[in-house]
Amino acid sequence: MSAATTYEASDLIAHDIGAYLDAHQHKTLLRFLTCGSVDDGKSTLIGRLLYDAKTIFEDQMAALEADSRRVGTQGGDIDFALLVDGLAAEREQGITIDVAYRFFSTDRRKFIVADTPGHEQYTRNMVTGASTADAAVILIDARRGILTQTRRHSYLVSLLGIRHVILAVNKMDLMGWSQDVFDEIVAEYTAFAAQIGIEQFHAVPLSALRGDNIMTSSEHSPWYTGPSLMTLLETLEVGDDLQADPFRLPVQWVNRPDLDFRGFAGQIASGVVRPGDPVRVLPSGKTSSVARIVTADGDLDLAVAGQSITLTLADEIDVSRGDVLVTADRPPEVADQFEATVVWMDDEALLPGRPYLMKIGARLLGATISEAKYKVDVNTLAQQPAKRLEQNEIGVCTLSLEGNVPFEPYGVNKDLGGFILIDRISNRTVGAGMLHFALRRSHNIHWQDLSVDRVARAGMKNQQGRVIWLTGLSGAGKSTIANLVEKRLHADGRHTYLLDGDNVRHGLNRDLGFTEEDRVENIRRVAEVSKLMLDAGLIVLVSFISPFRAERRMARDLIGAEDFVEVYVNTPLAVAEQRDVKGLYKKARAGELKNFTGIDSAYEPPEAAEITVDTLAMSAAEAAEAIVDWLRTSV
Ligand code: ADX
Repeated sequence: MSAATTYEASDLIAHDIGAYLDAHQHKTLLRFLTCGSVDDGKSTLIGRLLYDAKTIFEDQMAALEADSRRVGTQGGDIDFALLVDGLAAEREQGITIDVAYRFFSTDRRKFIVADTPGHEQYTRNMVTGASTADAAVILIDARRGILTQTRRHSYLVSLLGIRHVILAVNKMDLMGWSQDVFDEIVAEYTAFAAQIGIEQFHAVPLSALRGDNIMTSSEHSPWYTGPSLMTLLETLEVGDDLQADPFRLPVQWVNRPDLDFRGFAGQIASGVVRPGDPVRVLPSGKTSSVARIVTADGDLDLAVAGQSITLTLADEIDVSRGDVLVTADRPPEVADQFEATVVWMDDEALLPGRPYLMKIGARLLGATISEAKYKVDVNTLAQQPAKRLEQNEIGVCTLSLEGNVPFEPYGVNKDLGGFILIDRISNRTVGAGMLHFALRRSHNIHWQDLSVDRVARAGMKNQQGRVIWLTGLSGAGKSTIANLVEKRLHADGRHTYLLDGDNVRHGLNRDLGFTEEDRVENIRRVAEVSKLMLDAGLIVLVSFISPFRAERRMARDLIGAEDFVEVYVNTPLAVAEQRDVKGLYKKARAGELKNFTGIDSAYEPPEAAEITVDTLAMSAAEAAEAIVDWLRTSV
């Protein structure tokens, strides 16, 4: 863009804001992200683009605000209001914290650039910025060439399905504008890109600092005949042709201002919809047809992918937030177990078996990783066996969800195949992923209803089943107390069973050690066994260290809060260590026993146990008495 046209633009803003806004409104929008390492010159590049585009921020804001006020009057045009909505949705998920979105425009196009910090936590920020991007500018410092981070970012860009990749080889001035340097970098990148499925990319030699090849071709690189970076950004094709795909509308919320109106609002993920179209609600599978497409400015005859709308249906059927409305004749699959690629972002590792929350489309539900199949070394692309995923690692896992969800592979539909994982306790976004396919077992295993149920079984025993879950440090006295409780209950004619950590680890769980992931699996299995025993009508005593809150909570959720009695056997570490009945603390202190709870592996005390027994203040017999009393009075 020349200075003259810029002047014209600002002149137009000054004299005929209406004409300016009109021109502005009809420009296409390119969302892109920049990625690179800390010193690659990313900020300089973005600053340079903003500066050379000569857009004045206040003017843009005025223009954007005016645009935003017109939302809904312009049909399917994407505009800043929608972007703001998009950002708000992301903010709600707590994932935009470190990504700065900047807006600028030229005469030909509007741009949103997601500036993702290159330092720590870069994966999180990158994935956040990349999730909606049309293009990625991968910055290379010509002096350093292709780095591990370049490969990781490129791999993520490919996984996230970003269509356009621009390799910006920066600081060429410091390499004397050597064509050989540039060609070598491009050759190396070409080989890597092919392996990760990036078939095409544009490479531009740059000096962001000096402004070479940013807006116009630089005289310093006569050997480079391609377009300048800005020209490329202005001419890349944007938008997928999602209108050709079948209709899908994830329901963001149910709009029910009064008894006569029930509308289902959301943004169309793909396809088109018209009044009269037959639709299906997933996962329930119920069908109806579209009655109206409602907007603030009147009803529409047609709405297309990308538009935010409210639908009403011809029939009164159940639709809730998180459901997906789809075309009745081409519905997506519905499943609850998947294979997926997962990008882990949290400093606490992903552990198979640990319960997380998954947000997919507008649906939020419980999910666990059933198995980490492998992780990928981003340098060699080799698949390595993995039992967990650490921060910034990328792996392929199988996932099990707490309910059925309609989905499509991420490659087909990003909205129905992309998800994030959230920590249940801290609410942090800990991972992001892309669904590949549903596991067969997801469809082929059904719940068998049995005629004799839990109530019948417990009734015959003349009792109410319970799971009494004792948690505490090794040597706290859990097993001693559990044993006394069982004796008392048995003497009272109750039907019981005691699951003890040491004992179960001799059989069912003999394949498990004491790493975090093994402890998670240990507790998952014991929770499942307790549930079966509860179903058999028994009063189950569980005596396991069960050091992590997340798994105790998982056990509570699995068993049902009304039948779950958490007992904190509270003994200070110093006291348990002093008792050291099995001599294990001594070994742990001597470094002969790794991952010992309280020494070099964490114990997270319960925050709201039903019963806490203080073993300093009471004897084991008194503690057992207290538990039996609690049970008696609570039934
Ligand atoms: S849990 O953490 O996974 O719940 P669990 O209750 O099954 O542990 O087993 C704990 C018992 O295993 C302890 O009482 C102790 O006898 C033994 N043990 C052996 N190694 C360890 C260790 N590294 N940490 C804790 N307990 C250990």
